[in-house]
Formats: sequence, C-alpha cells, structure tokens
Amino acid sequence: MSSDFPYAIEPLEEKENDAIRKDFTGYLSGAVRVQPQGYFFQGIYRQYAHRYYNLSLRPTDVFVASYPKSGTTWTQELVWLLIHNLDYEGAKVPLDDRFPFVEADHVLDALVFQRPELKAKMKSTPEPGERLAQVTKLEDPRCIKTHMPFSLLPPKILDTCKVIYVARDPRDVVVSYYHHHRMWITHGFQGDFRAFFDYFLKDQVMWSPFWDHLREAWERRSHPNLLILTYDQLKEDLPAVIRKVAGFLGKEVSQEEIENLTKHLHFDSMKSNPAVNAVAEASTGLLDLKEGGFVRKGKSGGWKDYFEEDMKERFHAWMAEKGGSLPKEFKWMK
Ligand code: A3P
Repeated sequence: MSSDFPYAIEPLEEKENDAIRKDFTGYLSGAVRVQPQGYFFQGIYRQYAHRYYNLSLRPTDVFVASYPKSGTTWTQELVWLLIHNLDYEGAKVPLDDRFPFVEADHVLDALVFQRPELKAKMKSTPEPGERLAQVTKLEDPRCIKTHMPFSLLPPKILDTCKVIYVARDPRDVVVSYYHHHRMWITHGFQGDFRAFFDYFLKDQVMWSPFWDHLREAWERRSHPNLLILTYDQLKEDLPAVIRKVAGFLGKEVSQEEIENLTKHLHFDSMKSNPAVNAVAEASTGLLDLKEGGFVRKGKSGGWKDYFEEDMKERFHAWMAEKGGSLPKEFKWMK
C-alpha cells in the first residue's frame, strides 16, 4: 500500500499459485489479489496498479468499462462511431488502436518478457508500458477501454468524464471467458470447461470477483456520467440502445443513421470485420483464432449447452449468495 495506490496487493497462497501457473500457462507472474474485495490479477499488476489509478483524465474522455466477455467490443464499436460522427472509413483502423485497452500492458508483459520461447514465436512484441503510453498520446476525444472495477480506476473518473458500463449474464460470461482463455496465449488455459468453471466460481480469473465488479457499477448508477447497459439490451433492441447511447453522449442521429449503424453492428457484420474481430492481434501471434474466433457465437443463453446439472445448481447458489443484493433489472437474477 502507498499513498498513490490505497489498496493492499497480496499474493495468493503458494500452493494456489502453483496450480494456477500450471493451468494457465500465460499467468507467469502468478496471481495477486487487491484487497478488500480481492480483485484477481496477474502478479505483474503490481507494477501498474498506481499508474492506472492515477491516470490523468480529460473531460472529453469516454470509457467503456466491463467485466470481460460482456459485450465490450460491441459497445466500443458503437461508442467510437457515435463519438466520431459515424466515420465508417476511420473505423477501418483496428479497434484496439482507436479505442485502446488501458490495462493491456499488465497482460502482455507477463508473456513477452518472461517467456523468451514465446517471444520468438511472435511477429511483433509489445514494449512494457507501450499500451498505456498509447492512451496518453491519443488525441481528444479519447475512447478508452477498461476491465477494471471502479475502485481501481481514478477516483474522479465519473466527475471528469463519461463511462459506459456493460454487463452480461455471468453464465454466458463464463462460457465466453473459457474460450477466450484458450485462445489467447497470454492466458493459455490448459483445462476443460468444468475446470475453468471452478476457477470462475472461486474468483480466480482476471478481473474477478464478478459480483463486486458489477455491484461497484450499480452503486454509482445515479451519477449522470455513468450509463449502464446489458448485453441482452443490445441483443434485444440495438436501435434503442444506439438512441440511448447517443443521448448520453450528446449526439444526434437520424433514423437512417440508426439503421445503418444497426447493420454495421450486426453480429455477422462484426464477425467478418477485421477491424474488430481480433484479426490484427492474431497476426502478431498473441492469440490463435481457434475456439470459434473472437466474435464467436454472440448468443444469450448459450450457457445451457455447457452446464451440466450439478453446475447449474452450484452456479445458482453462487449467484444467490454473491449477487443476491443486486436488483431484478439484471435479467439473469430472476
Ligand atoms: P461469445 O463468446 O458468447 O460469442 P467482449 O468484447 O467483452 O470480450 O465480449 C465478447 C463477446 O461479445 C463474445 O461472446 C462475442 O461473440 C460477443 N459479440 C461481439 N460482437 C457481437 C455482436 N455484434 N453481436 C452479438 N455478440 C457480439
């Protein structure tokens, strides 16, 4: 703990870390928890925590925040196009360059700088702190992606800039996150779905615990600079979400523009769009587009094909215990 980062960062028990290093070949620096909630990160997060917490903000910044696999990329593309007055030509630049992931460095470093054999496989290798530097150099208005919960972000974030938080049914999240962990060599998950499910329920995957993450956003819901969306809302009525986000960002959009944007954001169109489907990242060697690709299935309720009876029960008990105080607005709580 220090004056520029107010929370204690504690390593996991050595036995737990040994198991994690074996099952997640990308988690080389082991894992830590940030107290009091116990947010789970790779050990390398220690080197970056204070830099993320003290990130210099601008009033024109717009953040898209989420727990991973909640529809972040989908929301980012929507937000970027609204902010940039529907510049579809500009949107051909890879999303990661237009809308950088502020804490990407702490995921990449572990891989690139501690495993030379993987470095050799990579077509290009990121420098430490490169992604954070990219955020600081970005021209206004900056669009910034984060998976950090509010408590680990700059405390004045909502008083300074706008944040759009997107949430998804954790059952679909765990399935999507499992495939994600197998695809990215920065995670390198070696096990099957059941093994990943166990880690998820123990909050032993990056950016967990899921429920605290969501609760932190929900507690700030009345702040005028926060808009909370859900993946289901995007699925059920994308034009309505576009209208809502445009209103939040102070942008006017015509009916025709909404229709065009709805088409651009359609699952099939996102799946074949190289600027958003992680083809650029795959070309560096960072991920292998197996497991159905980055824009994978795009369904709500796909978890039913993965959960066995005992898993449904365990998940339900976990939801009831940890998410119980969250409201019915989150559909999956019903
Ligand atoms: P699945 O793996 O369930 O298919 P994130 O961007 O937060 O990592 O979330 C990724 C999830 O959003 C993936 O879910 C991906 O397929 C889904 N997704 C991305 N674009 C989408 C779209 N246009 N329509 C529906 N789902 C989309």
